Amino acid sequence: MQPKSILKVLLLGLVALQHMEIGAGYRILAAFFFPGKSHFMITDAIIRELVHRGHEVTFITPFSLAKENLGANYTEVLIPQYDIWGEIRDLTNTKSPLDMTDTSTITFLRAAYTMGLSSTNFAFEQNEVQSLINAKDKVGKYYLLLAEQFFNEGALILGHLYQIPIITVTTFGYSNYLSSLTGIINPWSYVAHGWKPYTNRMSLMERIDSVFCSFTEEIMRYFWYYSKQNEILQRQLSRQFKDLPTIKQLERNISVILLNSYMPLEAPRPSAFNMIPVGGLHIKSSKPLPTNIKKFLDEAKDGAIYFSLGSQVRSADLPPEKIQMFLGVFSSLKQRVLWKFEDDKLPNLPPNVMVQKWMPQTDILNHPNVKVFISHGGLFGTQEAVYYGVPVLGMPVYADQFLNIKKGEAAGYALSVSYRTVTEKELRYSLTELLERPKYRDNMKRASLIFRDRPMGAMDTAMYWIDYVIKHRGAPHLVSEGVKLPWYQFYLLDIVGIALAVILLPILGLLLLCPSFRSAKKPKPKSKQN
Ligand SMILES: *[C@@H]1O[C@H](CO)[C@@H](O)[C@H](O)[C@H]1NC(C)=O
Ligand SMILES: *[C@@H]1O[C@H](CO)[C@@H](O)[C@H](O)[C@H]1NC(C)=O
Repeated sequence: MQPKSILKVLLLGLVALQHMEIGAGYRILAAFFFPGKSHFMITDAIIRELVHRGHEVTFITPFSLAKENLGANYTEVLIPQYDIWGEIRDLTNTKSPLDMTDTSTITFLRAAYTMGLSSTNFAFEQNEVQSLINAKDKVGKYYLLLAEQFFNEGALILGHLYQIPIITVTTFGYSNYLSSLTGIINPWSYVAHGWKPYTNRMSLMERIDSVFCSFTEEIMRYFWYYSKQNEILQRQLSRQFKDLPTIKQLERNISVILLNSYMPLEAPRPSAFNMIPVGGLHIKSSKPLPTNIKKFLDEAKDGAIYFSLGSQVRSADLPPEKIQMFLGVFSSLKQRVLWKFEDDKLPNLPPNVMVQKWMPQTDILNHPNVKVFISHGGLFGTQEAVYYGVPVLGMPVYADQFLNIKKGEAAGYALSVSYRTVTEKELRYSLTELLERPKYRDNMKRASLIFRDRPMGAMDTAMYWIDYVIKHRGAPHLVSEGVKLPWYQFYLLDIVGIALAVILLPILGLLLLCPSFRSAKKPKPKSKQN
């Protein structure tokens, strides 16, 4: 080799090195459009960790992390919050999230898909997102796209435009609709629809209901939802870009799906190589409690109850007579009660009850004196209760909350009441059971051990797979070929069609071609029978 060409090779190598491996850190684009506050429990945790580990992250989000001072390697693209709650109120005819208890699963599904479509379209209308789409020299700028595996598939177009592999994060854990994305067929016989309160042992009626929901969702996706997402891409991007890929094509480039789930909160079910359960990764080693809460819990000699309905459902929206009923029961208990309550004034507050608008939930659940968690059964809260081994009294309101609580009841660490119909007697009985019968705590401790016992911690697992996908420049070797099949091939409907044809056509042919065959079949004249 001539000195000149050696120099050229060396230079090229240097440029490539600078381009590809910048220390341990990579530039990652994260596009999370859906303004559901609780969804960001897992998303924010991942973003923070990536930045702490020396990656450079550009985060498209409706919720700012600016206060956290993540440093120069964190770039925030803050988009306005689309009013999903206004939309869901209209779609489900409800006034507050509490009313959604009455909403049927199908209506709720339709609402979720519609909110997904509107928030995707809304995100594309924002200048900040448009400038990322129209940026010059996109190729080589980022190494990975992170996006939510919810109903915002349009975001995957960024992976295409920047020519980078994709990892999605499901805030809901496993869902039956992931079938066609991962190339597995879920056995609906024991894998219930995720928004139905059924375990993996279903009665016939439950199975009919669950299969109906899974089937309806599948049909909705194939014949309505995908084309709506495609329309959004066409509407928002076809001016700048010719030959836009479809959502289905984009989905084939998802290298890994990080699932917000883990045993025993999820029962065994089929999984693909690229489905990685990382449930609980948002749970961090605890910070010290604020002094007032610490004192309140430390001095709770007979134990304490923690009561929170999460970030979306407000305790303050409970019917006033129910609030008074709760307070009545609490006042008669030896235990102290910490209640996340969103209104300043709560009349008749008994001395053993403390209310506050916001509570450091994981740190509270980690306190040894906390004996029972009264919860709406949201996925994150349930994971935290299981992680810290605190038995649950569930008051589920919507979506997967019924299922989460039902699983807890089946595993013997939870009881449930309806926030609407619960009576004083029922509430007192459930709380006494959970506080005084050790079996609930024992079952919860067992679940906690299973949830924590993993080959690698939840966050480390997520980080490992993010590094893995970047290192291998995408992981098509993890992606099932089933993802590329059209639905009728995936479900073998073409084979069923051929099989039916092979069986039915000759019979039909015979019937049509041989009139004698037909007449031979005719009943014989009556006279002969005599
Ligand atoms: C910032 O990110 C770059 C990679 O883009 C990395 O090399 C650097 O160490 C990071 N800085 C910090 C303070 O983590
Ligand atoms: C899928 O990924 C490959 C490799 O990164 C890329 O060349 C291709 O354009 C991507 N396809 C779509 C539809 O984005």
